[in-house]
Amino acid sequence: MKIINKISDFIELRCQISKKIALVPTMGSIHEGHISLVETAKKHGDTVVATIFVNPIQFNNTEDYISYPKNLDKDVANLEKNGVDILFCPSLSEVYPDGFDTTVRVNYLSDCLEGKYRKGHMEGVATIVTKLFNITAPDYAIFGEKDYQQLLLIKSFVKDLNIPVKIIQSKTVRDKEGLAISSRNIKLASNERLFACEIIKSLNKGFEKIISGQKNPEEIINFIREYLSSFDSIKIEYISIRNPYDFEIINEIKEEFVILIAAFVGEVRLIDNVIFLGKNE
Ligand code: PAJ
Repeated sequence: MKIINKISDFIELRCQISKKIALVPTMGSIHEGHISLVETAKKHGDTVVATIFVNPIQFNNTEDYISYPKNLDKDVANLEKNGVDILFCPSLSEVYPDGFDTTVRVNYLSDCLEGKYRKGHMEGVATIVTKLFNITAPDYAIFGEKDYQQLLLIKSFVKDLNIPVKIIQSKTVRDKEGLAISSRNIKLASNERLFACEIIKSLNKGFEKIISGQKNPEEIINFIREYLSSFDSIKIEYISIRNPYDFEIINEIKEEFVILIAAFVGEVRLIDNVIFLGKNE
């Protein structure tokens, strides 16, 4: 695996690659979720490029940025073992040199849910991912359904700005209790981990209710809230049922839907979702 830190070096190398490139952007602290994206990348591209960059402008909280788990040596070994061809991990000053003054913003998706509770987060993601696309010029880029709003945001600006990359979405990887794998899970104490598993259980229960005939989103949201209210250490930030394509709020569930949640378990903020695409699955 080649490791590249400088943008100019990457661009020089890129010019020599004629094979299809599949890109997997990450913030490091590589886990099975990231590796599943690498596996998806291998199916689409001939050369797999991963990136590691903890992007400060997408953190709405400095403490969260500073304490974001970092383990580059372990990540390098893990990515190499799993067949990544090139790792791009630039420094902060390489990505945001003095005078950097541009923001990419998708209006609707930057202001609702994640964008509402994490001010500036969505713009931060759109800006860094646009830069990574411009630097690496991938044919495919793989993103996880775990961050569903982020996935739609990226699809949206790629379309609006005519960026020539195909976005591939990859299923959420979960542990055997159903908890979505996340870099933040290591911050959970063992009892908190058990509570965290209740989040996906509550979404699955809501999902089943919909499939068995309850079409009123408010009823489902209340049901999920009530289920989770019995766990003192879970504090819900939002629960929302939306159209999985345009992210509009649904008033009556007809076919496709996504149920999204953000909740704190103790001090740890977790997000998760369940998606139903009906006949389009
Ligand atoms: P990060 O949280 O490191 O996630 C990198 C990619 O892994 C994202 O596409 C995310 O959706 C995916 N991912 C995370 N957990 C997953 C899981 N359990 N199963 C499947 N995929 C999972 O998301 C980011 O970084 C950043 O916002 C980034 C896009 C790199 C921009 O800075």
